[in-house]
Amino acid sequence: MFVDKRFARAAALLACSAVFSFAHAEEAAPAKLPNVVILATGGTIAGTGASTTTTIGYTAAKVGVDKMIESVPELKKAANVRGEQVVQIASESMTNDVWLKLAKRVNELLAQKDVDGVVITHGTDTIEETAYFLDLTVKSKKPVVIVGSMRPSTAISADGPINLYNAVLLAGSKEAVGKGVLVTLNDQINAGRDVTKTNTSTADTFKTPELGFLGYMQDNKPHFYRLPVRKHTAETEFDVSKLDKLPQVDIVYGYANMNRVALDADVAAGAKGIVQAGVGDGSMAAQMLPAFREARQKGVIVVRSSRVGSGIVARNGEVNDDKEDFVVSDTLNAQKARILLMLAMTKTNDTKKIQQMFYTY
Ligand code: DGL
Repeated sequence: MFVDKRFARAAALLACSAVFSFAHAEEAAPAKLPNVVILATGGTIAGTGASTTTTIGYTAAKVGVDKMIESVPELKKAANVRGEQVVQIASESMTNDVWLKLAKRVNELLAQKDVDGVVITHGTDTIEETAYFLDLTVKSKKPVVIVGSMRPSTAISADGPINLYNAVLLAGSKEAVGKGVLVTLNDQINAGRDVTKTNTSTADTFKTPELGFLGYMQDNKPHFYRLPVRKHTAETEFDVSKLDKLPQVDIVYGYANMNRVALDADVAAGAKGIVQAGVGDGSMAAQMLPAFREARQKGVIVVRSSRVGSGIVARNGEVNDDKEDFVVSDTLNAQKARILLMLAMTKTNDTKKIQQMFYTY
């Protein structure tokens, strides 16, 4: 059957214009932005200095969350954001109480259907600890991203705005779902379990020694190249919803010629657990072993960690952990081992079960 050529051409033009208008309509409809809540705690990202060249000697924790959000208008292109001021502190003053408050608020928010992710602005001094605490206590696969800055908001080339923008993008991204608590500064993405501050003042301070970044923020989106392998967030066995305090766990730093004064004082003050930031492979000086043994005999849980900063602290290295009934921290540094031990002791004092937790999280 011959179809009139003019009709065929008109039909083809109509079809093309329909496709174009549909495609155009697709382009015109703005993508639905994710809903991200920013929980502010203070730190340098909220800090102010006397001048634009003040990068040391500024005051942390001065700028409120709403002002911080207003100061980065680009956030509106990344997500629908709103802020809550949880505390306003320099993070060297972070406490167990703030951690419990944060974890409970994050879990409340992530349980809401209209919240897609959470960003926490935080001082950099203890970001690594808050990140791991939340990695062990957040009961959701939705993204939780912790961000800080190394220069105050008033400085030339302040890194806070771009770090905050990246953190909101990351927290609203599908790629970040299920990857545990993440820390992003300097266009890099680290896992909450392994990240640590490696330089007192440079913008590239956050690293994961030897094991590496999870990925990068580039061109307004996350690029992941590896995944955390230990249990975290939605898989955690720890529930802080009904906790209003954590067991007292202290850290004793190891060094040549150390003595038992600090350890004995911690135990006398009621420490339920002691983490040693030991030399080398978590080794214990001969003069310290009796003190740790006495602490253990009083029911204090002893964990051998290391001051070295990377590598595994293995059982029965230069200390017979089986005989002494000590626990080893695996690859957790002392400040992170303290966090896992505190949470472990909310569930058990059985050292075999606690050791298994150090191999699980
Ligand atoms: N006082 C430090 C803190 O709040 C400043 C370091 C920073 O936030 O970068 O952690």
